Amino acid sequence: MRLKRRDFLAATAALAAFPGNTLAAKAPAFHKDFLWGASTSAYQIEGALDADGRGPSVWDTFTAQGHIQDGSTAAQACQHYTRYREDVALMKAAHFNAYRFSIAWPRVQPQGTGPANAKGLDFYDRLVDELLRAGIRPLACLYHWDMPQALQDQGGWQSRAMTGPFADYARAVAARLGDRVKDWMMLNEPNVVAIFGHGLREHAPGLGLGEMGVLRALHHQNLAQGAALRAIRAEHGDCRLGTVTSVQPCRPETSSDADRAAAIRWDAVWNRVAVDGLLRGAVPDVLAERMAPIIQPGDLAAIRFPIDLLGLNYYSPNTMRHAPGQMFEVGWGRAPTDRFTAMGWPVQPDGLYEVLMEFKNLYGNPATFVAENGAAYDDALSADGQVHDPERIRYLADHIAEVRRALADGANVTGYLAWSLLDNFEWAFGLSKRFGLVRVDYDSQKRIPKDSYRWFADFIQKARQS
Ligand code: FCB
Repeated sequence: MRLKRRDFLAATAALAAFPGNTLAAKAPAFHKDFLWGASTSAYQIEGALDADGRGPSVWDTFTAQGHIQDGSTAAQACQHYTRYREDVALMKAAHFNAYRFSIAWPRVQPQGTGPANAKGLDFYDRLVDELLRAGIRPLACLYHWDMPQALQDQGGWQSRAMTGPFADYARAVAARLGDRVKDWMMLNEPNVVAIFGHGLREHAPGLGLGEMGVLRALHHQNLAQGAALRAIRAEHGDCRLGTVTSVQPCRPETSSDADRAAAIRWDAVWNRVAVDGLLRGAVPDVLAERMAPIIQPGDLAAIRFPIDLLGLNYYSPNTMRHAPGQMFEVGWGRAPTDRFTAMGWPVQPDGLYEVLMEFKNLYGNPATFVAENGAAYDDALSADGQVHDPERIRYLADHIAEVRRALADGANVTGYLAWSLLDNFEWAFGLSKRFGLVRVDYDSQKRIPKDSYRWFADFIQKARQS
């Protein structure tokens, strides 16, 4: 659907009555140091896959195997590798004070181990300097899914042997950037990697190993993360350390006992193995028996770490039903809403409040930040050369309103980063799903700020002033 300018104006007028948009009129809710910005990941935006000695990653292999739905590749993506200055300027113009990006392991260690490739690190060096010049705090994430293929060939996350290489890699990156980067995130969504890349075949490396494949990948990422946290802590005492995980409330589709049990099982797999491992050194009860064979003495202590900052990615709750024959005997049910994004994901902002309050009430209120939140819609370029995306504005406003509600109720939320700055390579969906605040014309590489970009910029400015 193409939206005309007048439709947009009508939609934004309607939005003025929406809770998230009355922010400026209300008492201050966001601390002046609250982090506002966006997140991206290396593979999804950088392009330049052969530049400066980068090695192949599992996503290059998965793409070459023909798994990308629209047949596209990340070879160009947003060409951020060469256009990063323009992208940082866009962040600055939107009043961002924070930006989470990821470092590509295959640029730093093309074969996954061995001495660091200085040229690969040079890129992040330039990017960090550019961010600091723009007054934007760099939050670096060490692993956003692009495992070096050479390590995958040795078993990848199915193997305990990744722990040492990941800690070495973390040490090498922090040695180069730790004088300027003061926030380090270890992993992005170990649960999504484990479920979709190891249990199922929807993401790289596409192993399809089922339940034990998921649990091994989760446990081994937890172990690698624990080792990397300790490696950086040992040498960079002044850094804030953490990780990023996807947390989505798991709600039963119906009130039947079977659906409720399914939701509890899925909650254990999706949320608890990562979170309880890190924060409590614990394994969820419903998985204890199945995980016992892969947990060795000392593992849980090695996984637990007193992090400084926890990044939470939230898109929607998981509505689950009992599904015999499927992995963990769960299946996705129909969410009780008629709002869906172009990914088919339900829009249920109250789930974000639930998640934030859960960390306050059940985990001792650690410092958290929303590390990803946003929506893909079928944006089109209008005749006036602009992208009018009122649905994305509404999505963001609704979710920020829930952050504000959680803050008012005492949750220790310290930032909100939208996913994403730019339209980008959305994994197995390729270039077909647009999540950006800024449209990217992939042929010309022109950046076209959407209405949501202007809305967000304005919102941040008002939030700071209030
Ligand atoms: C998250 C990923 C991110 C992006 C968004 C839409 O699961 O962390 O890379 O794909 O979903």
